[in-house]
Amino acid sequence: MNQSQPKILILFYSMYGHVFRMANAVAEGVREADGEPILKQVAELISEEFWDENVKKAKESMKNIPVADPRKDLKGIDGLIVGTPTRFGNMTSQMRNFWDQTGGDWAEGTLIGKPAAVFTSSATQHGGQETTIISTMITLLHHGCILVGLPYSFKEQMTLEEITGGSPYGASTIAGSAGARMPTANELKLAKDLGKHLTTIAKKLAL
Ligand SMILES: Cc1cc2nc3c(=O)[nH]c(=O)nc-3n(C[C@H](O)[C@H](O)[C@H](O)COP(=O)(O)O)c2cc1C
Repeated sequence: MNQSQPKILILFYSMYGHVFRMANAVAEGVREADGEPILKQVAELISEEFWDENVKKAKESMKNIPVADPRKDLKGIDGLIVGTPTRFGNMTSQMRNFWDQTGGDWAEGTLIGKPAAVFTSSATQHGGQETTIISTMITLLHHGCILVGLPYSFKEQMTLEEITGGSPYGASTIAGSAGARMPTANELKLAKDLGKHLTTIAKKLAL
């Protein structure tokens, strides 16, 4: 790899745009740590006839982000950051669908020893952010990744002054039951920190 500029894949799914906004902040953090962010969205599984106006708006805002190819896009990267909204406390089926097509890279050990982190979004404060991040990490462990969280040194996760996402497991945002709440400055800062932190570790692992 080009040790001075690790390639970091930011692989995400977003239906209403919250995870997408977080993904952009993660990419900013990767760039700040002199990494090269590669932003990709996983393929949609829900047919367009079922998209409401909010989904259509979000999809329009993401239309320039390439769709990830599960057979190609894990190769040649130095680190990985996965973003998925919660679905009943787990990753979305769209994200699962991507990983379920990566048996080839699992067999080859493409991701063994590569650092990986996770970020998420949920409608409610206690609606499964930690379970989504941790259960996603199980897949990353099976691929041989080295898990990276968000240490408490990123102290914005500890604030009691406002409702906020972010935990030692990774970055997160709370969308609200109707999806009207967008990621706050505090949540975006922690997402950026996650990108920076993982990139710094990717550089150290390459030494
Ligand atoms: C089928 C389904 C299941 C969901 N399950 C949960 C849940 O268990 N807990 C929760 O807080 N939010 C849940 N949500 C809300 C989503 O997590 C929320 O829409 C998402 O975080 C918004 O992110 P996005 O804008 O990037 O799509 C669910 C949404 C759907 C459609």
